Amino acid sequence: MEYQQCYDNYLSQAEDTLQILCEKFLPESSEVCRAARYSLLSGGKRIRAVLVMAVCDLLGGNMETAKWFAGAVEMVHCYSLIHDDLPCMDNDDFRRGKPSCHKAFSESTALLAGDALLTAAFQVLANAPDSSEKTANAVKELSAAAGGNGMILGQELDLYHETVSPSAGQLMQIHRKKTGALINAAVQLGGVAAGCDGKTADLLRQYAYDIGLVFQIVDDVLDVTSTTDQLGKPVGSDEQNNKTTFVTLYGVHGAMAHANKINENACRIVTENFREKSEFLEIFAMKLLDRKY
Ligand code: IPE
Ligand code: IPE
Ligand code: MG
Ligand code: MG
Ligand code: MG
Repeated sequence: MEYQQCYDNYLSQAEDTLQILCEKFLPESSEVCRAARYSLLSGGKRIRAVLVMAVCDLLGGNMETAKWFAGAVEMVHCYSLIHDDLPCMDNDDFRRGKPSCHKAFSESTALLAGDALLTAAFQVLANAPDSSEKTANAVKELSAAAGGNGMILGQELDLYHETVSPSAGQLMQIHRKKTGALINAAVQLGGVAAGCDGKTADLLRQYAYDIGLVFQIVDDVLDVTSTTDQLGKPVGSDEQNNKTTFVTLYGVHGAMAHANKINENACRIVTENFREKSEFLEIFAMKLLDRKY
């Protein structure tokens, strides 16, 4: 199957799954759940969901399980965006081309909608249609990635360094935690759904952190080169919040040169290890580098 056809197929399965999971776990009767659905079902590139399914598919795993795992990762990601946009964090009023959750609803509702999504994600994993061993492994991966030594630490450091400039090494660490950890969780959950071995998981981790870093560098670049219309979220947010980014350290061209190099490494890891089966992950990485939104 061609790359685009394959991607569209994963994407439509992710959208259908999210709809089903919302019916099951986020009942529309509550305002908080309506706010959670507003943010979760309002687009987004779904790259994390696609990664779960692509890795599972590559390793010949159970795609029904992968769909549930993919839904859980998108829920955690969406909660992180709702909280990231709050006035006490990045204070951004648009997300995915629409008013941010706290603008469409209230701040307290947005806060709780994030909490509800985070909680629902683990409910989804625990109820996924697979063995208790696999679901427990999935909980281990996602909780480690999202928690106080993962994405939350990244967000903590990101905010701390608004006032104390980070070194280049510290910035890498922020990006690794705030963005890389969840992208790695997506890749690892694909592996868990396929029952992959430790060696494969290690290789996939290297690929995941590389593409995660590329993804966040490009996010930093787009914040200065793109438009709010194209991105669906405010540009210039990083400067406004006094963030140190790859762009402030190296300029747009320098940042993209870094991204190119890291991307080459990511592609090399999958080609060397998965040979002809690596094509989807390779093109996927290239597209993250070239993305315009
Ligand atoms: C935005 O993530 C937050 C970052 C980690 C840079 P995405 O760019 O994947 O956001 P959506 O899901 O497509 O809206
Ligand atoms: C977001 O980083 C990382 C998380 C939400 C965990 P950014 O603050 O750069 O993301 P955007 O640019 O608002 O999407
Ligand atoms: Mg932020
Ligand atoms: Mg932000
Ligand atoms: Mg950003």
